[in-house]
Amino acid sequence: MEYSVVIPAAGQGKRMNAGKNKQWIELNGRPLIAHTLSVFEQDPWCREIILAVNRLEQAQFQELAENGRFQKIARIVEGGAERQHSVFEGLKAVQQTDLALIHDGARPFVERENIHELVLKANETGAAILAVPLKDTVKKATGGTVSETVDRASLWAVQTPQAFRLPIVLDAHRVAAEADFLGTDDASLVEKMNYPVSIVEGDYLNIKLTTVHDILFANAILAQREREKHD
Ligand code: CTP
Ligand code: MG
Repeated sequence: MEYSVVIPAAGQGKRMNAGKNKQWIELNGRPLIAHTLSVFEQDPWCREIILAVNRLEQAQFQELAENGRFQKIARIVEGGAERQHSVFEGLKAVQQTDLALIHDGARPFVERENIHELVLKANETGAAILAVPLKDTVKKATGGTVSETVDRASLWAVQTPQAFRLPIVLDAHRVAAEADFLGTDDASLVEKMNYPVSIVEGDYLNIKLTTVHDILFANAILAQREREKHD
């Protein structure tokens, strides 16, 4: 199986409070985005990587692509104001395959096994996402008072990659753009088209680095992986 991956990295990382785009935060001496790129660079199923970046950081990413020896980065496109806009620009630049994955630049720990399971499912159904069963009990509340406890059995915490046959996700993004609709993830745009989205159970360690606390988890995950390598 072959796929193309769009990696949005054009955010500002405001919640990380690092004073810079969180993609440049170093983990084990390498920028976060380099960890994410390596996963796909090393996956034989990945044919091309399309990176969406902020215009002001174009040169930095270009340099990373060259010096980091990421040969699969086929294009670096200019991202937009919202993640959805960045992804759409990336999707329009996909050329090599008919199966598009979308994966957050800030999610460096995704494992090849999960990517492959996702790709096989999306190839079969047209649309699939990685998700994990929710661990927390979730309640709805209004004005600080509980109105409802939601049945956890039906709840999933959604991750990336999300994988789609290219025409389906391009169409969904086009329709959303025309309607000025902003979804919280790419699958939600596809769902809006009444297209069924399959869930593939992922791994709890596939975290997105969002706040400074996530750096603690990230370093713990990296340390654990180092130990496993030497076992
Ligand atoms: N992203 C993007 N274009 C945007 C906004 C976000 O490409 N206009 C990317 C981010 O770079 C990140 C991914 O989408 O890799 C997930 O978004 P998020 O975790 O929200 O990152 P940021 O938007 O950078 O962080 P924040 O929301 O805290 O500012
Ligand atoms: Mg954001």
